[in-house]
Amino acid sequence: MARILTLTLNPALDLTVQLPRLDAGQVNRSDEMHTHAAGKGVNVAQVLADLGHQLTVSGFLGADNLQAFESLFARRGFVDAFIRVPGETRSNIKIAEHDGRITDINGPGPVVGAAAQQALLERLLQIAPGHDAVVVAGSLPRGVTAQWLRELLEQLTQLGLKVALDTSGEALRAALQAGPWLIKPNTEELADALGCAVVSQAAQAQAASRLHAQGIEHVVISQGADGVNWFSVGSALHASPPKVSVASTVGAGDSLLAGMLHGLLSADTPEQTLRTATAIAAQAVTQIGFGIHDAAQLASLEQGVRVRPLTEQ
Ligand SMILES: Nc1ncnc2c1ncn2[C@@H]1O[C@H](COP(=O)(O)OP(=O)(O)OP(=O)(O)O)[C@@H](O)[C@H]1O
Ligand SMILES: [Mg+2]
Repeated sequence: MARILTLTLNPALDLTVQLPRLDAGQVNRSDEMHTHAAGKGVNVAQVLADLGHQLTVSGFLGADNLQAFESLFARRGFVDAFIRVPGETRSNIKIAEHDGRITDINGPGPVVGAAAQQALLERLLQIAPGHDAVVVAGSLPRGVTAQWLRELLEQLTQLGLKVALDTSGEALRAALQAGPWLIKPNTEELADALGCAVVSQAAQAQAASRLHAQGIEHVVISQGADGVNWFSVGSALHASPPKVSVASTVGAGDSLLAGMLHGLLSADTPEQTLRTATAIAAQAVTQIGFGIHDAAQLASLEQGVRVRPLTEQ
């Protein structure tokens, strides 16, 4: 069992509304409505907790709508190291119609000022060293620059911590400069950050070796239903998931990241690490939510994952 700190700088309250059909501009009645505390780092923490690890969760939370977050943290036994900021944590509304169409409306979230950023930095420098790894996942809130994220990652890395990063756009581009231990972009995110296509295996291998030279030990490139390519220094593996029926892909990337950390911190073999992580991600897509609620299903999904070395092209 490992102690893991996850950082969610821009969490969200996910509000899922289910209705037969959305009539824009009309009064609509929903069949069901659910609110839950979310955000990539919070999601990763939940999957890691399902795998038996001890979690500390941190980032910024709006002080005006804490309830769903605080009750989740209490229920899951997470150490709550979030900095409270004035205003409300954003809401991300997902409108799910019976035909499967989903409309997303993502809120803007609070503006995070310099004092809160400083408070988070101080809190992290104090608590992070007691952890085996730090996960930094998701987008940046308003008021926080990519440069600030880069400096934060540099400080965590200088403390000798294993930093696993899952973000995108300018934040990913800047954070790569800090040389995190592991990154988990999908192919579009990686292409966007590097400014070149990374569709072919050869292009990915070339990009990964540049990233390895920058100090990034593990480059985990997720490719949806096509699986995962994992380039680490000295070895490269591909995993294909078994064919599953897709209920919702929400949390697939977060589940893959949690699974990779689980294997790497448990000293599983690379083959076993990737197999389990790919099965956990496949299990996530079979559910409306995510998480490991059915150990037997996970074991059977693991049997269906194919792992092979990625040979030079
Ligand atoms: N249809 C699918 N069937 C099986 N596994 C899947 C499917 N879609 C995704 N996965 C698994 O989940 C992993 C992560 O998915 P994906 O590459 O879409 O991540 P992402 O783009 O980061 O998604 P997210 O929106 O969760 O951030 C994939 O590498 C794969 O292992
Ligand atoms: Mg993702």
